Amino acid sequence: MAGLFDSHTHLNNPDLMEDIDGVVERLLEAGVEYVMNVGYDLESSLKAVEQAHTYEWCYAAVGCHPHDTKGMDEETLEKFRELAADPKVKAIGEIGLDFYYDNSPRDVQREWFRRQIRLAKEVGLPIIIHDRDAHEECMQIMKEEDAFPNGVLMHCYSGSAEMAKEYVKLGAMLSIPGTITFKNNKKQKEVVKTVPLECLMVETDAPYLTPVPFRGRRNEPAYVKYTAQMVAEVLQMDRQAVIDATNENARRYFGI
Ligand code: NI
Repeated sequence: MAGLFDSHTHLNNPDLMEDIDGVVERLLEAGVEYVMNVGYDLESSLKAVEQAHTYEWCYAAVGCHPHDTKGMDEETLEKFRELAADPKVKAIGEIGLDFYYDNSPRDVQREWFRRQIRLAKEVGLPIIIHDRDAHEECMQIMKEEDAFPNGVLMHCYSGSAEMAKEYVKLGAMLSIPGTITFKNNKKQKEVVKTVPLECLMVETDAPYLTPVPFRGRRNEPAYVKYTAQMVAEVLQMDRQAVIDATNENARRYFGI
């Protein structure tokens, strides 16, 4: 019987770090067995790796979020390459495109998205994708860069069921966040019903995207259990079967 695998969380975020002992205690109590601690710039990637060495159940992803690509340079890319050699680093992420906030110019986002996909292929690690309001272009770039054979995980998947099917055909994995617990979120429930369970993971994206019944408060890895519960309800499956499957999927994907 496996425990929960939170496939995308930010223990490295100051909101969680200020209460890290409580966050850790509650996640262990909730039955979380593993977390993927995801970087979004150099500082948070360094922190993610440090925390992965503090906690046995914690693994790290290193990379630059599209928001922060305006601060990227060659030196930072080389730092990510060095970090990628650490045995507890299991992915490059989170990388991608965010055309909703446009915190960095789109051309800059595109450039560093491509460069980080290439880095992942060079070091032999899968990628974790952040895609907001850039669905078509995100997929196009990954096709052009031939990213799929190396492993693509769509974090916080928010696209259509139709596109989910296409991703699965390309060999990608989809990670479902706490927003699936929102009453009117028919779209994510449809996605879960459409794709094979072998292609799904569950995540918190803590401290963001808090599920019901804590919606509006700070999120933390312990709450991934509510997402697993909702996935089980949507699939009319046993909750433990969903936990087992998503745990196995994540370990297979990250090589844990
Ligand atoms: Ni994230």
